[in-house]
Amino acid sequence: MQSESANLPLPSALPLLDYEAQLYPFIAARTFATDDWIRDKSWRDTGPFILDTSYGVHPAVRIYYAPQILAWLKAERKGPIPDGAMVVKEMASPPTARYVEYQQTLEAKYPDDPAQVETEMLGFLRTIRGLNWTVMVKGSASSHGSWFFVSVGQSAAVDNIDAPFSPPSGQAGDVMCMRCHASAAEELIFSTLENIEGFPVEPLIFRADESWRDMDAFPPGPFNLPTVQRPGMGKGEAALIQDFSTTKPHLRTPMQRQRRHRRM
Ligand code: HEC
Repeated sequence: MQSESANLPLPSALPLLDYEAQLYPFIAARTFATDDWIRDKSWRDTGPFILDTSYGVHPAVRIYYAPQILAWLKAERKGPIPDGAMVVKEMASPPTARYVEYQQTLEAKYPDDPAQVETEMLGFLRTIRGLNWTVMVKGSASSHGSWFFVSVGQSAAVDNIDAPFSPPSGQAGDVMCMRCHASAAEELIFSTLENIEGFPVEPLIFRADESWRDMDAFPPGPFNLPTVQRPGMGKGEAALIQDFSTTKPHLRTPMQRQRRHRRM
């Protein structure tokens, strides 16, 4: 089957806003999630999640790879990735544990209906967890680094030129993205087969504590633990640091000690 993305023009073929108007609906409608694209084994974190703070380089992700990307990875990342190839990084609020558990709950509820599981899972992601995407499209005429980097929201709204003049949501060689992606060993992408469905290796995993179990939309239960059962009694990291440094006299700064002394 021909990749759906083959019907899209290259980023350099059209003026920016016209290109966005074609690309964004393709992403927001999840047209890429067709049979010939392959995806990660499951949702996964891109860094640890501790005391309600994510240390990931991106949010929780489930990445989809166009066939040309998979072919390049299988050929041991040799040579250039062809123009038009695309990686779509589907994203939701971290950590991943939420999605893995929610998926398991749905699978227990609908053991014989994977389509229903997928539909309810997507509904949950879209309405409660802020589903959105960043995408990399290969286009050697676009920039020296050859990639067009872009962020797409669920509304698929393209950029406009009205106040308050936000930075463009899609750009060739976007500097914000390049400051990390420039460090990839080849072709500015970090993708590896370990993370992808069907390859029998452990994907990248990170530690996540239980501090995320405070989802208001859920009744008390595994998704919504009482505060005493959460790490640090449910306190965020900043509050714990503040607590620690104000209750331990030897950690006070000289100025804090002086002020305290004067008051006595
Ligand atoms: C803080 C560093 C950082 C920044 C900034 C960053 N990325 Fe990434 N990105 C990464 C890392 C690291 C990975 C690999 C994550 C993994 O697979 O666990 C990645 C993965 C990706 C992927 C999947 C393909 C790949 O390279 O593995 C896409 C698509 C992507 N990023 C798009 C973007 C876009 C678009 C921007 C700018 C809007 C951006 N990124 C900014 C670090 C960054």
